[in-house]
Amino acid sequence: MKKLIHKSISLFMMISFLLILLNGCTISPNRIIASFFEKEDTCDIYISDYKLLEKIYQKEYKNYEFQPGEVIAEIGAANLFFSLSNMCFKDSLTFYVQDLNIRCLSEENIQKGKEHFTKLRAEGPLKGNIYVVQGDTNHSNLPKNTFDKVVLRLVYHEFKNPEQNLKDIYEILKPDGILYIGENVQKKQNKMKKCGLHRTQENLIQEIENEGFKLEKIVYKSKNENYKVFKFVKK
Ligand SMILES: C[S@@+](CC[C@H](N)C(=O)[O-])C[C@H]1O[C@@H](n2cnc3c(N)ncnc32)[C@H](O)[C@@H]1O
Repeated sequence: MKKLIHKSISLFMMISFLLILLNGCTISPNRIIASFFEKEDTCDIYISDYKLLEKIYQKEYKNYEFQPGEVIAEIGAANLFFSLSNMCFKDSLTFYVQDLNIRCLSEENIQKGKEHFTKLRAEGPLKGNIYVVQGDTNHSNLPKNTFDKVVLRLVYHEFKNPEQNLKDIYEILKPDGILYIGENVQKKQNKMKKCGLHRTQENLIQEIENEGFKLEKIVYKSKNENYKVFKFVKK
């Protein structure tokens, strides 16, 4: 029985991977895992296996180095997987979860998410704050000079007006604030896909640096180096 389950999981992962290739679009790996374990729709919350969550945290999320007391904006938070996962492993974080799509950010969904992640972790209820903000294409609607960290995870390629969005992000960050961008990067040249513009690493860095930031380091690379997390500070 166990073997059969493992085989089905592998098969599902392979099909998902092929679908991504065919679709040419960025689907968050979390989404795939989520839809497999807790399938309803993209706003529903996900993964019932704490060990798997821990693996994701240890691999990528811990590199954002969130510290207790920090105020963090997740722009394009979608189903809140990133913010809630981090709150599972670190207490006393404040997340402003922001998106254009308010459906995932409904009170009911947030409550469901909090309860789900609380059940998953042994230490009991999540200890931190979540504020929900709806933005529009050009404005994050997040408060200025407020954030220690802003996270754009698999979102930058979807921005319709990246220059304007980066100006906004510059203003909402504190003077010593940090901008993390997690993106799939192209090897040779920018590529327009269904879900947005996927840049080469060089072009991505150049665009961000043109708006007053400078790259400090790359804090995470996936095995095949297609996905990377860039850490920028203000110049
Ligand atoms: C691929 S999902 C992000 C997944 C999520 N950040 C994660 O790490 O799992 C992209 C999200 O970006 C949002 N988005 C696109 N353009 C945006 C903008 N200008 N401002 C805020 N959110 C935006 C979309 O609504 C969508 O929910």
